[in-house]
Amino acid sequence: KILILDFGSQVTQLIARRVREANVYCEIHPCDVSDDFVRGFGAKGVILSGSHMSAYEEANDKAPSAVFELGVPVFGICYGMQTMAQQLGGKVEPGTVREFGYAEVRAHGHTKLLDGIEDFRTVEGHGMLKVWMSHGDKVTELPPGFKLMASTASCPVAAMADEDRRFYAVQFHPEVTHTLQGAEIINRFVRDICGAKADWIMSDYIAEAVEKIRAQVGDEEVILGLSGGVDSSVAAALLHRAIGDQLTCVFVDHGLLRLNEAEMVMDMFARNMGVKVIHVDATAQFMGKLAGVTDPEAKRKIIGKEFVEVFQSESAKLSNAKWLAQGTIYPDVVESGGAKSKKATTIKSHHNVGGLPDTLHLKLLEPLRELFKDEVRALGIALGLPHNMVYRHPFPGPGLGVRILGEVKKEYADLLRCADAIFIEELHKTVDENSGKTWYELTSQAFAVFLPVKSVGVMGDGRTYDYVVALRAVQTHDFMTAHWAHLPYDLLGRVSNRVINEVRGINRVVYDVSGKPPATIEWE
Ligand code: XMP
Repeated sequence: KILILDFGSQVTQLIARRVREANVYCEIHPCDVSDDFVRGFGAKGVILSGSHMSAYEEANDKAPSAVFELGVPVFGICYGMQTMAQQLGGKVEPGTVREFGYAEVRAHGHTKLLDGIEDFRTVEGHGMLKVWMSHGDKVTELPPGFKLMASTASCPVAAMADEDRRFYAVQFHPEVTHTLQGAEIINRFVRDICGAKADWIMSDYIAEAVEKIRAQVGDEEVILGLSGGVDSSVAAALLHRAIGDQLTCVFVDHGLLRLNEAEMVMDMFARNMGVKVIHVDATAQFMGKLAGVTDPEAKRKIIGKEFVEVFQSESAKLSNAKWLAQGTIYPDVVESGGAKSKKATTIKSHHNVGGLPDTLHLKLLEPLRELFKDEVRALGIALGLPHNMVYRHPFPGPGLGVRILGEVKKEYADLLRCADAIFIEELHKTVDENSGKTWYELTSQAFAVFLPVKSVGVMGDGRTYDYVVALRAVQTHDFMTAHWAHLPYDLLGRVSNRVINEVRGINRVVYDVSGKPPATIEWE
């Protein structure tokens, strides 16, 4: 296994992710663990992370000296390289300019770490890497025994190595995807240089997570808000595996779910898996509160507030519960601590079912806190959840509430649910010949939107005067920007025909061809 020592960088978790992608087991521990801990850990290799501070300000943070005495390979990243240099007799000085962002690094000589890894060649024949840099200080003198491994114009020591001792260090960040060969570099370090076995699989993770949850919770009881979305579903399955009946899920149906969603959730969890689920049908309550409200933000606030109230009154009945579990995943953790809170304008106050206030006086349990979305999905599959649940498109907390433009009415929700189900069914059924994938797989999010305007149509011999449904399908990696999906015309045609024929009250279907930005994915 690999030991990652964390000096506090925002992206340390990404190092772990890359190591795990190489199917090598790793653990992250704080940089100030004791020498005894390091000796007793049994690491095949050690990675020293970057830091959020400059090496100068954090001059006290050093790697335990045992790291360099274990006889195993060590890989220093960014601040990790600087502390390695300093601790082994080199020199680090504050840089005159802060280097931040994209850089091209020239690799020197043939080191086991970078040999043959390059993005392009210069006319002189130098192998170059496209990397992401973020640092102020820099190494100005190599420690004894080290040689230069890479450089840039502004950073003469961009990477260094002592191949006898198998110490390697880079000033750039191989763990971020902007460093194109980053995954390959980390893979090479853990697999080739450390010789770690590629035997880490999800089932090991489950065993470990189960142990951890049991130790944390003891014999106390846990409540979880189950929404039917991927994160809370996987959290429920994992917790159920760990503590069985000590877990109670509360599933609040606000009447704005997709077609048959409540039944599916209850079938899956309560009937198939034997999870204790309290199903609260609060449709009437939510519809009552939403009557007459047309402003999108006002609707979001009402749905969020109502949700919390229903959840609170249900959990108050479970007087033995001491823990509130949430399906928080790693990107949520980063977002809430980082950029999101500083954003100047609120485009949408993303209410998340599951984001609950701390007035419940329960201890927080977040078993997915270290995982990325694709890891959560892999975990879900390993726990036996069905593929279609684990790979479902995201669905916003306020549900159809933000897909019915203007005032929300039960009548509109019923029409929209049917139209949406037809659209999704056709996306699942239609396979793209080039990729062999279904259009559901080829889109990141797809849904129908209810427009409360009426237009004239003709059906049989009669005139109709009915509502409009818009179809929305987007392709995106991060949901921050998105392209509208170029769905095949015959697919759109089938959906339109079926919606108009099967859903009474809809006589017109349109397709949304707006990108984000300037539009957003949801219509409200
Ligand atoms: P937008 O519409 O902002 O959506 O482009 C980006 C992603 O966020 C989802 N979304 C929400 N999720 N509560 C949520 O939990 C919300 O209020 C909300 N609004 C949008 C949206 O479905 C898309 O995946």
